[in-house]
Amino acid sequence: MVKIFVCVSCRRPAAENGEEEVRPGEALATALEHGVAARSAGDRVAVCRVECLAVCDQPYTIALTGDDKWGYVIGNIDADTHADETVEAALKLAAAPNGIVPLRERPPSFRKGVVARIPPLTFEGKRP
Ligand code: FES
Repeated sequence: MVKIFVCVSCRRPAAENGEEEVRPGEALATALEHGVAARSAGDRVAVCRVECLAVCDQPYTIALTGDDKWGYVIGNIDADTHADETVEAALKLAAAPNGIVPLRERPPSFRKGVVARIPPLTFEGKRP
C-alpha cells in the first residue's frame, strides 16, 4: 500500500487567490481519490489529507510513501493537471519493491518536482 499525502493548506499566490473557498489541495485530494477509484487501485493507493508538508514555497505539495519503500516529497503539483500523473506515480511506487522508481519511468511532475527522497525505516545505510 502506498499513500499520497496531500497538503490541503497550500494557497495560490495572493494575486491568483481571489475569493476561492476550496483550497487547491482539497480539490487535488478529491481528484486523486477519483483517479484511484477510476483505476480500481484502492487496494494499492490511498489518499490522505495533511495540513502542511513544510514546502510551502512550492505549492502544491504532496508526499508519496509506502511500507519499506523510499518516500518522496514533491512540490509544484498543479491541482488541475497533475492528478492523473500523481496516481500514476503512486502506482509506480507501489510496484517498485524498494520504492526507487527509475527517473525515466516517472511522470513529468514526479521527475521534476522532487524536493526530498526519504529512506524507509528499515534502511540500514549503504554498505561499504
Ligand atoms: S502549506 Fe502546503 S506545504 Fe505548507
